[in-house]
Amino acid sequence: MSKAKRPHRLEIYEHAVQQPWAEAALLGRIYEAMNGGESAWLLREDFAGTCSVAASWCESHPERQAMAVELHGPTLRWAQRRHAHIEDLHLVEADVMQIASPKVDLTAALNFSTFIYHDESALLGYLRHARKGLRPGGVFVMDVFGGPGAQRLGTQTRPADGFTYQWEQRAFDPITHRIDCRIHFTLGDGHTIRSAFRYDWRLWTLPELRGLLSKAGFGQVEVWSEAKNGRIGPAKRLPAAEDWVAYLVAKR
Ligand SMILES: C[S@@+](CC[C@H](N)C(=O)[O-])C[C@H]1O[C@@H](n2cnc3c(N)ncnc32)[C@H](O)[C@@H]1O
Repeated sequence: MSKAKRPHRLEIYEHAVQQPWAEAALLGRIYEAMNGGESAWLLREDFAGTCSVAASWCESHPERQAMAVELHGPTLRWAQRRHAHIEDLHLVEADVMQIASPKVDLTAALNFSTFIYHDESALLGYLRHARKGLRPGGVFVMDVFGGPGAQRLGTQTRPADGFTYQWEQRAFDPITHRIDCRIHFTLGDGHTIRSAFRYDWRLWTLPELRGLLSKAGFGQVEVWSEAKNGRIGPAKRLPAAEDWVAYLVAKR
């Protein structure tokens, strides 16, 4: 495959780790569950990357609109080209902390994006900002991963459609919970993209994050996770799995 014909690394990323339609549907369901069956219309996707969740949100209903905020110019421009046909999607190149309006029904920070904040005051500042940007009844959703496996070094490999996806946990510091994670891809023609994405994160725990959401002023904070039947819903307990992923859902 010539270099020109190889898919963009963001396109491969979207196929490898995102399910934008399912994520948009879940966000709508979470809002309804927290608001007595009422629907959400305006979504804000923070740390939006491919902006594909916001795009799927707009495409899921003619009345739905979304704003996607992404700091990295080349990523945002790729998303602009990819979603140029979607009228109700507004893409903004900015730090999430710079954008305070319009107020929205739902804000999503997915794929562990809030882990970019390494210290409590910075994360609390973002959570307060996210809360302020919500209309009354508005809901903030973020995802979290954890379990003993999240602190173990190593690489997991998963074959996908036309490429291989690798998730590497390269370093973890038990003192600071700083974690260095990488995504690598190997394409069908054998071409490898090492460290296609690199994350310098703080591995926050669920109790820490719940505490910070409450401190930020959110009135109702729930953990949502996948049940045995595959459906994602509110959970009071999680099994002590080697690796787990959950959503934190917080109502203004
Ligand atoms: C882990 S990726 C997640 C992308 C996407 N939300 C997803 O679900 O796959 C985090 C993204 O946040 C962007 N980002 C990092 N810091 C940011 C900030 N302060 N404001 C806006 N975007 C930021 C990065 O450029 C990157 O595209």
